[in-house]
Amino acid sequence: MLKIPISCSHASYDVLVGGGLLTHSGDLVAKILAPSRCAVVTDSNVARHYLQPVLASLKNVGFKPITLVVPSGERSKSFRQVYNLCHSMVVAGLDRKSVLFSLGGGVIGDLSGFAAAIFQRGIPLVQLPTTVTAQVDSSVGGKTGVNVAAGKNLIGAFHQPQLVIADPLTLNTLPNREYWEGFAEIVKHAIIQDMAMLKTLSPERPKDLSALIARNITVKSALIASDEGDKSGLRALLNFGHTIGHGIETAAGYGSLFHGEAISLGIIAALWLSKRFSGLLQSDLEYIARILQRLSLPIVLPDRILTDSVLTTMRKDKKFEQGKPRFVLTHRLGSAYLSDEVDLQDARSAIEFLRKLQPN
Ligand code: NAD
Ligand code: GLY
Repeated sequence: MLKIPISCSHASYDVLVGGGLLTHSGDLVAKILAPSRCAVVTDSNVARHYLQPVLASLKNVGFKPITLVVPSGERSKSFRQVYNLCHSMVVAGLDRKSVLFSLGGGVIGDLSGFAAAIFQRGIPLVQLPTTVTAQVDSSVGGKTGVNVAAGKNLIGAFHQPQLVIADPLTLNTLPNREYWEGFAEIVKHAIIQDMAMLKTLSPERPKDLSALIARNITVKSALIASDEGDKSGLRALLNFGHTIGHGIETAAGYGSLFHGEAISLGIIAALWLSKRFSGLLQSDLEYIARILQRLSLPIVLPDRILTDSVLTTMRKDKKFEQGKPRFVLTHRLGSAYLSDEVDLQDARSAIEFLRKLQPN
């Protein structure tokens, strides 16, 4: 088992990574939290594979779980589902000492993490991530929230988990598309801080992702440790590819392009802007485009997603401040900085570039 300690201004906790850990979640959690009534929130796909072992493990150490299953997919990251979860927890008699377990991908983590943040003004949260995206990124750092029609993650709260248990064996049941979309966040982490990581990636599914997961969490942990509340501009570097990426994801219609697929396109757009504003080499852009393609991620924007729709949704994004977009750019792969020199016309050109790239 690998253990990555996370230490930020409001919380310290561990991320545990290892094959088979999910079936020991009860024992691992009981070391830090007293057994209580609790809610296990998951989605319909994940419930089929992993709900029973988690329930058994929690009951074994004295937790008394209720189970809340939401429909799978991005559309569940909604106010309606937050209300349903909170309502069910009230009806079941959960209280401030109850624990919420998020068992699933980023959708479940963000949605139920937000419910944990506001239920009785905040109850303990344990993240049990089961997708690549959730294990390398979303389960760590405390960003929780839901989407509204106008944009992604516009309603939310910071709520750090007490523990994260990432079991890479759960990734074996992910279908291919759902598996590879998670690699967009890995490529993002590489571009902003750890380019050597790209050399470890292969287009075949690796046998054990533990080391790669730990490496990604290490990149993220340094940035959240120094800027937990996303205020100084350091944590914002984790948004590389997300300004246009979120715009594309929302404009496509939630669930149409997966999050990681939209971020793959957003990464190419951010590289194009980096070339224009920061002197990034064309060969670097092409190198990353080849890697994204080898990982089955898209690099060409589908015609049905209109540039104006992407720009309209982008304007509502949290990364817009005082009417101006904030973009994360890179002078040189492996480092990144926050820029306010990109305007909407430049963003339009970057989106249009996504229609012209020739896949190899
Ligand atoms: P997801 O949660 O929708 O999961 C993808 C699909 O895989 C779903 O259909 C799910 O039911 C299924 N699934 C999950 N685990 C499975 C398993 N082990 N076996 C079989 N099927 C399984 O998508 P995601 O990519 O994990 O998360 C995307 C979300 O994460 C987006 O909403 C994005 O905004 C958010 N996100 C948040 C942060 C953050 O810091 N909070 C960071 C990155 C992404
Ligand atoms: N996923 C971006 C962040 O956690 O800040």
